[in-house]
Amino acid sequence: MISLVNVTKIFPGGEQPYYALDNVTIEIAKQEFIGIIGKSGSGKSTLLNIMSGIDCPSFGSVIVNGTDISLLSQAELTKWRLNNIGIIFQSFHLIPTLTLLENVILPMEFAYPFKRKQKKRRAMELLDSVGLADKWNLFPDFASGGEKQRTAIARALANDPPLILADEPTGNLDSENAFHIYLLFERLARSGKTIVMVTHDPDLAKSLPRTLQLKDGEIMGSKPVPRHEEMEIK
Ligand SMILES: Nc1ncnc2c1ncn2[C@@H]1O[C@H](COP(=O)(O)OP(=O)(O)OP(=O)(O)O)[C@@H](O)[C@H]1O
Ligand SMILES: [Mg+2]
Repeated sequence: MISLVNVTKIFPGGEQPYYALDNVTIEIAKQEFIGIIGKSGSGKSTLLNIMSGIDCPSFGSVIVNGTDISLLSQAELTKWRLNNIGIIFQSFHLIPTLTLLENVILPMEFAYPFKRKQKKRRAMELLDSVGLADKWNLFPDFASGGEKQRTAIARALANDPPLILADEPTGNLDSENAFHIYLLFERLARSGKTIVMVTHDPDLAKSLPRTLQLKDGEIMGSKPVPRHEEMEIK
């Protein structure tokens, strides 16, 4: 489902360029529920941004669900993302002028071939699945951190994407709600979705079938692969 080969992301730094990701090679199979762990600043969000095409790598290739996303234009990428990926951002990115329900409906307005009433019903069901059925009419500014986070999870599922990229989706939740989201993701993976979840929660990480650990932009314990500058240029 996801194939990253020799991915390096360099940000221009003060004195020196900064390697946020350093020669990362990862294969993630369809239907995997995989965790990404690592300290703050180790490159986890950068990695998810590269998988979603929000950011592009300085070097390396990124194939997601059979598409080499580096070949897509910005417009193609937006359309592709809408149908292929649900993203749960670390800082939610809800639209403040829309209610929680309208935030969940929004991605469907661009992709889902259903009537307004059906979209509303689907959004209500998704809000219900994250325990927010009674909060649908609230604006994000009045919602708690955990409620915003759960709305962002419901929104990511709106278009029924095959791949879900979740950046600390339980970071603002108490342990009971966090476990509820974990079970929801587990169910989605069993039904065929692929889920990549960044987490700082050691209990959740332990429950996952596979986790990758990032340290200073490198995957720990992965086999050494030649760095891009050592690779033969053909
Ligand atoms: N646009 C940017 N320009 C310069 N440096 C950046 C940029 N984006 C990220 N970085 C740096 O890259 C490193 C990795 O950042 P990233 O956000 O991926 O970390 P993270 O593992 O998600 O951390 P956290 O757990 O705190 O969310 C950090 O040192 C960060 O400062
Ligand atoms: Mg992050």
